[in-house]
Amino acid sequence: MENEIDYSQYKTVSAIPEASSMIETFRAIGYNIETAVADIIDNSISANAKNIWVNFEWLGSKTWLSIKDDGIGMNDTELIQAMRPGSKSPLQERSSKDLGRFGLGLKTASFSQARKLTVISKKAEHNSVYWTWDLDFVNKTGNWDLIKYVPDEKPKNEISKLTSGTIVLWNDIDRVVKDFNQDDNKALDKFLFTMEQVKKHLAMVFHKFIEKGKVNIYFQDKKIVGWNPFLTDEAATQIFPEEKIQNGTVTIEGFVLPHKSKISEDKYKYAEGVKGWNEQQGFYIYRNERLLLAGDWLGLFRKEEHYKLTRIQIELPNSLDSEWQIDIKKSVARPPLVFREQIKAYALKVRQQAVEVYRHKGKSVKPIAGQKFVPLWIDHKRGDKWFYKINRENPILGKIKEQVKNEPDKAIEMLLRFIEETIPTKSIYIKESEDPELQGKPFEATDHEVIRNTMQAMYSGLLNQGKTEEQAKAIISNIEPFNNFVHFLEFLN
Ligand SMILES: Nc1ncnc2c1ncn2[C@@H]1O[C@H](COP(=O)(O)OP(=O)(O)OP(=O)(O)O)[C@@H](O)[C@H]1O
Ligand SMILES: [Mg+2]
Repeated sequence: MENEIDYSQYKTVSAIPEASSMIETFRAIGYNIETAVADIIDNSISANAKNIWVNFEWLGSKTWLSIKDDGIGMNDTELIQAMRPGSKSPLQERSSKDLGRFGLGLKTASFSQARKLTVISKKAEHNSVYWTWDLDFVNKTGNWDLIKYVPDEKPKNEISKLTSGTIVLWNDIDRVVKDFNQDDNKALDKFLFTMEQVKKHLAMVFHKFIEKGKVNIYFQDKKIVGWNPFLTDEAATQIFPEEKIQNGTVTIEGFVLPHKSKISEDKYKYAEGVKGWNEQQGFYIYRNERLLLAGDWLGLFRKEEHYKLTRIQIELPNSLDSEWQIDIKKSVARPPLVFREQIKAYALKVRQQAVEVYRHKGKSVKPIAGQKFVPLWIDHKRGDKWFYKINRENPILGKIKEQVKNEPDKAIEMLLRFIEETIPTKSIYIKESEDPELQGKPFEATDHEVIRNTMQAMYSGLLNQGKTEEQAKAIISNIEPFNNFVHFLEFLN
């Protein structure tokens, strides 16, 4: 470098990161056990594993968890390098299938949950090798020293059964089972519930690998079935044409999931995923087929009930990691500013369709030869405000008008009943939550002749009944919607 300063004449002193505080920093990156296990599995997939086994044994606070794979494995030098925090530079170019980026995941994910991390690995035609990080030992000695130790001999036998592969073993999993007693059934229930969450998370994050048969993930020796957020096997799912952005490297594809009435109850339950229907709406960002974000509007929209059928897939290659601000946990991604508008425009189309499906219960109101659907309510704009009006063309009104001639009371009651029962609450709710300012108030932005005439007629009636002018006006001003129009009172005569 041309401008490099020659420091040789200066005094230097080493300021090695202090072990105990570095450890706490690593532990505070914000993993939970779901994301931590997923991060370890990323490594297995990058190492070309075809099978991955997640196993654990309930032993109260001594519970252990292991992630075993039949990938390419590591030799001793490679393992020591892999155990180093920051084993690869984030700037280093990676193979297009590599799920890693920072050279940290193995350590940060493991340390976030456990105080002991042991890795046992075997390359084809090699003997197995192993090393352990013990955070308490590092803390005590202040040195970043690996220990040639395995807390349990069993995994060593297991690895020798594989041609090649790696076992990541967590002990002292204090973030999950600290102080848990093995005989405590409540603690066991809690633990098993957590493990169930882990399983669901893996089924979601790696569903593309599982579905395509690229990887099998076994959870306590049972094969995990992938969870597909888009219900692509359902006929009623609407798939939008995909769009490419960022020179064709990024693909967006929208899905409007079927209305509840269009799928089986089981399917509906299945599709609600880990977080539930409302929370699962939004973008699903994949990086090399690995799901980073599941149901997030990226700050572009809010999550709302009526958009819950919208799920939009975005697929990224790992070459865009820095532009999309991928984080260590692989759970954050942010579109570059220049593409936000394009992504938003695409999402708007999908969301609009999702509202249609949500509102019409998936009913396709397809006109039968020459027949037109006749609504009772019509939402329309007056000025810039929304109003809801009864469709005067609706045949029900014709029927009621006929009846008025003979049974006026019954006719009016029938009219009121129809209004009461069919108030378009969903439309009103949707418009209200989109922008409350845009809902019209009674008789806003229209002429007030109806109001004035009705007020006048009532006023005259009250005077005829013997009320004073004062009394009549007081009565009228307490009747909805006249209460909004008290300024007309002075014109009454
Ligand atoms: N199961 C495994 N099989 C083979 N090699 C592995 C395995 N796990 C980790 N490694 C090696 O260890 C290195 C460090 O892994 P680590 O997860 O810490 O970082 P990374 O995957 O490179 O990046 P990231 O921080 O984004 O996860 C990997 O790059 C890989 O070379
Ligand atoms: Mg990794």
